Amino acid sequence: MIRISEPVIGDAEEKLVLEVLRSGRLVQGPMVERFEESVREAVGAAEAIAVNNGTSALVAALQAHGVGRGDEAILPPFTFVATLNALLQVGATPRFADIGSDFNIDPESLERVISPTTRVVMPVHLYGLPSDLAAIRATAEQVGALVIEDAAQALGAAVDGVSIGATGTSCFSFYATKILTTGEGGLVATDDPLVAEHLRILRNQGQRDRYDYAFVGHNYRMTELQAALGVAQMGRMSELIEQRRINATELTERLQGVDGLVLPRELPGRLHVYHQYTVRVTAEARLARDALAERLRAHGIECGVYYPRPVFDYPCFRHDPRLGNPHVPEAVLASGQVLSLPVHPALDAHDIDRISSLVRQELS
Ligand SMILES: Cc1ncc(COP(=O)(O)O)c(C=O)c1O
Repeated sequence: MIRISEPVIGDAEEKLVLEVLRSGRLVQGPMVERFEESVREAVGAAEAIAVNNGTSALVAALQAHGVGRGDEAILPPFTFVATLNALLQVGATPRFADIGSDFNIDPESLERVISPTTRVVMPVHLYGLPSDLAAIRATAEQVGALVIEDAAQALGAAVDGVSIGATGTSCFSFYATKILTTGEGGLVATDDPLVAEHLRILRNQGQRDRYDYAFVGHNYRMTELQAALGVAQMGRMSELIEQRRINATELTERLQGVDGLVLPRELPGRLHVYHQYTVRVTAEARLARDALAERLRAHGIECGVYYPRPVFDYPCFRHDPRLGNPHVPEAVLASGQVLSLPVHPALDAHDIDRISSLVRQELS
């Protein structure tokens, strides 16, 4: 079986986790600080605040920026449910801008949806490909809206050599399938020292000092065990991303020229870290997307549909008056066409060969 994702865990991870187990300190402490420092340095952020998962990172970042009840927030409809959940958790009112051919928020659609009442825009760097940040920020700036990035899938991605997380406020996830993992884990990178200070207090029950509570907080703390895994994983960050990019290049070379198969594109200035290698299976293909997925699985190749519907179109949201009935044809089209193939760094040349040969064979 070729898995769709597989964490790369070795001696370094085992050694550091064991060190924590033997230290007697399991909750947020020096290892969390080490983890924060290594991410901060790797992405070039001013401040890095670790939390217990990526969803908490989004909620906490919104809260630290003062986004709350009734604030209008624009997000892309083609994303994991956590982006929407985070906005609903803080009481924001979601609005959707459609996606472009890069699967990320389309700046032109954003321009049509944004208004002076928009408080925040939340682009998602889907599959590890950065959104068109320059255009999004310029549009947000025109109406005085904040930009908070859902970078859950995009650790190590960059625009014009500047890493996601180095500017503004970005939220990362270290869930088991991500670029690198702490099991569950999240982190907010920000260049705003006041937001950083707020986040450090917020994640620890609103506690500034022992029993000195500044505001209503939460327990978003990361454990030392998670951080130990993260410190070891950060030591492999470049290697893990490089291997994903090599695998993606190989897949793209071998899958060229198949009718009805649209391959991921590298866009000028935007470094793709291939959290997912996602193709489109269009109407011209010999098999429909779901039939192809079934054939791959039958041959022992896991693949994934991320995501089968626009995020507002699940039963629990469909009739939610806060979400309306957005007109986002590109997101609807993408959700019927996308298929993610294994690209993770544990694949070897034989795996890549099996994946690409089978896709070619089934579609030829
Ligand atoms: C786009 C996106 N946003 C948010 C999250 C939430 O992260 P987590 O699962 O760590 O809570 C994820 C990952 O699962 C994600 O893919």
